[in-house]
Amino acid sequence: MSILIRGGTVVTGEQELRADVLCDGGTIKAVGPGLDAPAGTTVIDAGGMFVMPGGIDPHTHMELPFMGTVASDDFFTGTAAGLAGGTTTIIDFVIPGPNESLVAAYKTWRERAQKAAGDYSFHVAVTWWSDQVSDEMGVLTRDHGVNSFKHFMAYKNAIMVDDGVLLHSFARAQELGAIPTVHAENGEAVFHLQRQLLAQGITGPEGHPLSRPPEVEGEAATRAIAIANLLGAPVYIVHVSTEQATAAITRARAAGVRAYGEVLAQHLVIDESVYRNPDWATAAAHVMSPPFRPKHHQDALWAGLAAGQLQTTATDHCAFCAPQKAAGKDNFTMIPNGTAGIEDRMSVLWHHGVRTGKLTRSEFVRVTSTNTAQIFNIFPRKGAVAVGADADLVVWDPAGTRTISAKTHHQNVDFNVFEGMEVTGVARHTISGGKLVWTDGDLRAVRGAGKYVERPCFPSVSQAQAIRNERNRPTGVARMPATAVTP
Ligand code: URP
Ligand code: ZN
Ligand code: ZN
Ligand code: ZN
Repeated sequence: MSILIRGGTVVTGEQELRADVLCDGGTIKAVGPGLDAPAGTTVIDAGGMFVMPGGIDPHTHMELPFMGTVASDDFFTGTAAGLAGGTTTIIDFVIPGPNESLVAAYKTWRERAQKAAGDYSFHVAVTWWSDQVSDEMGVLTRDHGVNSFKHFMAYKNAIMVDDGVLLHSFARAQELGAIPTVHAENGEAVFHLQRQLLAQGITGPEGHPLSRPPEVEGEAATRAIAIANLLGAPVYIVHVSTEQATAAITRARAAGVRAYGEVLAQHLVIDESVYRNPDWATAAAHVMSPPFRPKHHQDALWAGLAAGQLQTTATDHCAFCAPQKAAGKDNFTMIPNGTAGIEDRMSVLWHHGVRTGKLTRSEFVRVTSTNTAQIFNIFPRKGAVAVGADADLVVWDPAGTRTISAKTHHQNVDFNVFEGMEVTGVARHTISGGKLVWTDGDLRAVRGAGKYVERPCFPSVSQAQAIRNERNRPTGVARMPATAVTP
């Protein structure tokens, strides 16, 4: 099946140009003006629209078993919702339990993801440390296309790791040419504050942000960056939500550290007042970590994205319905953490970013796909509109509008944190693997059509870090033999 996208303006991370795009056999075959449509080609009129790389969401949790339940969007429903919003690739997380084999867990997640409608890849979490973990990190990078390892600095008594694990794992990742990533929150501080709040009788969702103030994130981000820097490793911080963590990344980059930051669409536009909603279920529906923040943090996040100090946008899509959230009705620490967003990220970013002049169209492309593809080493197969790239494209209607609502979204969850938001800028058509999967409101997602995307390790980053590390190698001092020293 071939598709010709005719008459649009192609927007990439580098440029805009008037060009047609011809897709065939799952890849882009030609980009240029006045392309001919071979017989049997589906022609899409993109007049007045922008043709951009399909979005990449580098942070999702489809059907994640978490906090006593399982996230309600599975790999099919979640990726299908992504296609409806212009996102064609996700990077999800394999999260082995402490003492579980990383490779075994990776195989479990690969099995679950067979049903995905869009392309997918995996970060693998390191939740404990041993020689076996170290060996399996090698197996995953060598044989399974995993080039990023995740570390949770929060969720004490579950998947949290301490500084010892961070040190071992970051060093091993650097040795393998993989990138360590972190959920940066000081889990000991969170645990302490949670106990304190519960003892004071604060059991509702308002306790959630109170137990995870911005300093909790700032401290952990600073510590993770320091550990990476002293090992000569790069580091990627997921869901940066505060000015403190943004500042830590900015300082580190200014000092020459390869530190990267990801922002969630939700944190850019939702503030912490949601936790004080008198309706328990509404407040609980917003419980995710890190929590939503006082408004001035949003300015820091937008500025960080515009300045390039923060590079990617994601959703941390982790959907739980009201009955699941109700597990924490008497104790906010038991509310499953997570919110949905994969379907709405691109529109929210366009409406609040491009239409307000905070981001240019090329910056929009960079933060919704290209930078992720580069940081996680799948560029230019993904994140590009170029001959040879995967035919994962979105035909973006900058004048199209919609009102976001759980009543109309495709996500398998009963709540939408963007409920009622009117956005201008919508995915008119989405092409995934060369197939038209979303067109004028018609979702044609196919169960199992998504492909696993291998991400090889980073020869250039790891070489550069290795050269640096060699030049900074510690040296001893050659002294006279001890016998020459008179006591
Ligand atoms: O609240 C969240 N973010 N849930 C998913 C797990 C994580 O921390 O990313
Ligand atoms: Zn997290
Ligand atoms: Zn502040
Ligand atoms: Zn997450």
